[in-house]
Amino acid sequence: LAKVELDMGSVPEAKNVVVKWRGKPVFIRHRTADEIAEARSVPLSELRDPEKDEDRVKKPEWLVMLGVCTHLGCVPIGEAGDYGGWFCPCHGSHYDISGRIRKGPAPLNMEIPPYDFNEVDGKIVI
Ligand code: FES
Repeated sequence: LAKVELDMGSVPEAKNVVVKWRGKPVFIRHRTADEIAEARSVPLSELRDPEKDEDRVKKPEWLVMLGVCTHLGCVPIGEAGDYGGWFCPCHGSHYDISGRIRKGPAPLNMEIPPYDFNEVDGKIVI
């Protein structure tokens, strides 16, 4: 199956990009130090689908996830919602800067696809 590559140098800090992978949007965010600290400060007991930020990323600066709301599959909006991450306008699910569900009807965090870093070329390969 076709792979998608993204040049990491093309995404400045604090920016999102969306790439298409197997017909689905993949959200990639170049996170800031503050965002990483925020994601890591949340107690698991506050999470509906408890997952550590550390277990959702391969490098703290890069969040790579399927841009599909786990409620009924709409595409959430970036830099929106009450938790500094994404907001799904279909029925009001709020996701944090780790893509974890925080409020609204969605049951699960946004899914992490298989991906890797190609350090030589400075690319994310999905
Ligand atoms: Fe996202 Fe319903 S599809 S909240």
